[in-house]
Amino acid sequence: MRLVLVGPPGAGKGTQAEFIAAHLAVPKISTGDIFRANVTQGTPLGVEAKRYMDAGKLVPDEVTINMVRERLARADAAEGFLLDGFPRTTPQAAALDKLLADLGTALDLVMELVVDDDEVIRRLSGRRTCRGCEKVWHIEFDAPSEPGVCDRCGGELFQRDDDKAETIAERLREYANKTAPLIDYYGAQGKLVGIDATGPVEDVTVRAIDALRSYG
Ligand code: AP5
Ligand code: ZN
Repeated sequence: MRLVLVGPPGAGKGTQAEFIAAHLAVPKISTGDIFRANVTQGTPLGVEAKRYMDAGKLVPDEVTINMVRERLARADAAEGFLLDGFPRTTPQAAALDKLLADLGTALDLVMELVVDDDEVIRRLSGRRTCRGCEKVWHIEFDAPSEPGVCDRCGGELFQRDDDKAETIAERLREYANKTAPLIDYYGAQGKLVGIDATGPVEDVTVRAIDALRSYG
């Protein structure tokens, strides 16, 4: 299956993508994760992307589309994939449609995770990520047994630079202005399914898997 997860920052895309990709046995491709890996490694792409990410702005389309084109060309994505965080603009969506059409295929489904801004702010301000294994925690909703330490690998937890209050506000503005129009774009293609992304993580996963099942 070729699936896209869309939703505001902090909706739980990364959290749900782990479970859904495992369920579908397809690779999870997160543009945010790829950019962050490049930032950590200090590559030219990372240096460029960091300027935008730290400001809560989207990285320019051309840079992002080229990066995804390269990633989708890898063998593990040939039979299906789950895209987390891409596309995020109408030009990115159009480029993805064209890229897949050139390969003789198309997206199957776009799943929107629906949560309101207050919940997004609660989720992002409490998020902590493990330096060791990259597992995402939450100081209130999914807390490790010892504060600041990952239960899975013992690694140190840190707060993402873009999870500061003023950057979160800018990311929400970017979402409303540039990404929300994709809901209509994919709705018009008959590919959109929206799910309620509030409540416990497990409940959201059940809703997501149910939605995939009813799709077929
Ligand atoms: P990216 O990493 O994609 O950030 P985002 O879309 O803002 O999404 P997040 O990773 O912040 O949140 P999420 O929805 O994955 O939520 P999570 O599961 O972590 O992008 C970062 C930046 O990279 C962008 O700002 C941009 O600069 C750049 N970029 C990336 N893609 C781009 C593109 N296509 N074009 C241009 N630029 C791009 O959950 C959040 C927290 O909530 C966690 O602590 C989690 O434990 C908790 N949580 C999750 N589910 C629940 C639940 N059900 N109940 C309670 N807590 C929950
Ligand atoms: Zn860890």
